[in-house]
Amino acid sequence: MQRTFVMIKPDGVGRGLIGTVIGRLEGRGLRLVGLKLLSISPELAAKHYAAHQAKPFYPGLIRFITSGPVVAMVWEGADAVAQVRAMMGPTDPHQAPPGTIRGDFALAIDCNVIHGSDGEAAAESEIGLYFTPDELVSVPRPEESWIYPRT
Ligand code: RTP
Ligand code: MG
Repeated sequence: MQRTFVMIKPDGVGRGLIGTVIGRLEGRGLRLVGLKLLSISPELAAKHYAAHQAKPFYPGLIRFITSGPVVAMVWEGADAVAQVRAMMGPTDPHQAPPGTIRGDFALAIDCNVIHGSDGEAAAESEIGLYFTPDELVSVPRPEESWIYPRT
């Protein structure tokens, strides 16, 4: 089991895609262990995107991510980090195949609906930025014997 941090970005919330995105992850069999709606402060945005600070798109990225509410989530499952990245599709929606979230719901790199941690270390630090341990609840789904038949 692995945990990953997922965020529905302001464009996804504004366009009414919260249920759609959650439905896809839930349908895949991943376990939702944390969820909150929040507005990201410039300070939190700077911490989240610290790795991109020197990039030309950074100011626009910070403006965008603080422009409206987001849904922050933690999802748990086998190989969750890589599986969620695959379901998101590539950063640039023009490269994202149909069937991926960005390939189905986005057409611009700066409004690409969803964020997902890009590795286990990033997942751990991003979860820590948005959630305290007592805000995470990991309860097995009753149907998990159908999702993980050999465990
Ligand atoms: P994210 O962190 O949001 O999940 O997206 P990602 O891993 O697929 O992409 P990343 O390289 O981490 O970039 C973070 C966000 O910055 C915006 N971006 N714009 N104009 C550009 O060339 C450019 N490159 C990246 C995107 O909104 C991307 O999601
Ligand atoms: Mg990233």
